[in-house]
Amino acid sequence: MANMIVVGAQWGDEGKGKVVDLLTEKADLIIRFQGGNNAGHTLVIGENKVILHLIPSGILHRDKVCIIGSGVVIDPEILLTEIDELTAKGHHVSPETVAISDRAHVIMPYHKVIDHARDTERIGTTGRGIGPAYEDKARRIGIRMIDLIHPELLRQKIDAHYDERLEYITKVLKVKAPQKEAMLEQLTMLGERLKPFVTDTSLLIDKAVKAGKSLLFEGAQGGNLDMDYGTYPFVTSSNTVAGAACVGAGIGPTMINKVLGICKAYTTRVGGGPFPTELSDELGERLRAFGGEYGATTGRPRRCGWLDLVALRHTTRLSSMTHLAITKLDVLSGLETLKVATAYKAGDTVMESMPADLEMFPNLELVYDELPGWEENLSQVKNYADLPPNCRAYIAYMEEKLGVKAAIISVGSKRDQTIIREELF
Ligand code: IMP
Repeated sequence: MANMIVVGAQWGDEGKGKVVDLLTEKADLIIRFQGGNNAGHTLVIGENKVILHLIPSGILHRDKVCIIGSGVVIDPEILLTEIDELTAKGHHVSPETVAISDRAHVIMPYHKVIDHARDTERIGTTGRGIGPAYEDKARRIGIRMIDLIHPELLRQKIDAHYDERLEYITKVLKVKAPQKEAMLEQLTMLGERLKPFVTDTSLLIDKAVKAGKSLLFEGAQGGNLDMDYGTYPFVTSSNTVAGAACVGAGIGPTMINKVLGICKAYTTRVGGGPFPTELSDELGERLRAFGGEYGATTGRPRRCGWLDLVALRHTTRLSSMTHLAITKLDVLSGLETLKVATAYKAGDTVMESMPADLEMFPNLELVYDELPGWEENLSQVKNYADLPPNCRAYIAYMEEKLGVKAAIISVGSKRDQTIIREELF
């Protein structure tokens, strides 16, 4: 029995979906604990591509329970669309396989309007209403799933702040606000359909733990987008480090045995904010083209760059990672030399950890190590020993610098394009 948290070790899009999907084989419960449909997992199963934004990827396996914990913010319309699409593809989606926390907050239509109207140039949010929903949660005026499934509570809570919102949206943001009665009608209908799935998920998890079941916590985004520890304010609105799994699922830290960090063999980022190892040249273009680096949620081209050990050390430490999964190693084939940032320099000061002061980033110099690349195509390699020596040296270098073993190596998007060096469950 193992209870394991899987988190992104960079700025998101590390390939968590694929790894979680593989690990799900041995897990009983798969739990989302933060974020919302700003996340997007692209899974390739056989010839089929499935993109999931809210429901844990465990749903693609039989007899697993997928939980959306209280730390997640839920767009009910997106969730139902996902349920309908999965059902149409023959997956078993029912209250036996999907449970939604009654305490999770709802992304309301006005949250999406606000997110769109306010941002999107500066932070480059996904425009899904994530930030405004978490704002209302912290302001204690949010709508929770428990309200959504009780029409009288829903009306009462929407009524309480509708005029204030209307004023803000129409007068400050100068855009059209969702009309109250139409919104209520639509949400009531969505709530009715979701009601059978809504429950106290922390009780479910507790029961499962007591019955000796294995839990897999599926993180969204990455450690450097964490609201406290990421490149604030260019971050998402939730905590993305491993510690958030306990709060967002409703379980204590003594129940967790392992933390797996997922890390690309290079770095990508979508949206604004510092990205010290970014390559704004042909090499960056090459990584984007070879790695298919376009957002699963918004389709935006991802910014690409070399591996950044400063940023990685930061998240490895913050999540107390016990293991690493290195993904997209195949994308680096054909490069003569691989550069890896080991430190940042500001004047004479060498920094090995992420500075909190964002003003420093534009003037940082980077300290790079250079490692020899490899020519071989890795996409069919099944055993670690069959990887080119320079490729193994690159992995060993990462392990040594981060002090964490790479248990899983991914060399392509399909399930069988994976080298397992250590069974984690
Ligand atoms: P938000 O989460 O939509 O508020 O966006 C805040 C920042 O997080 C933006 O830079 C987004 O591009 C980024 N972001 C949010 N979700 C993801 C994700 O799943 N992968 C990568 N970046 C993300």
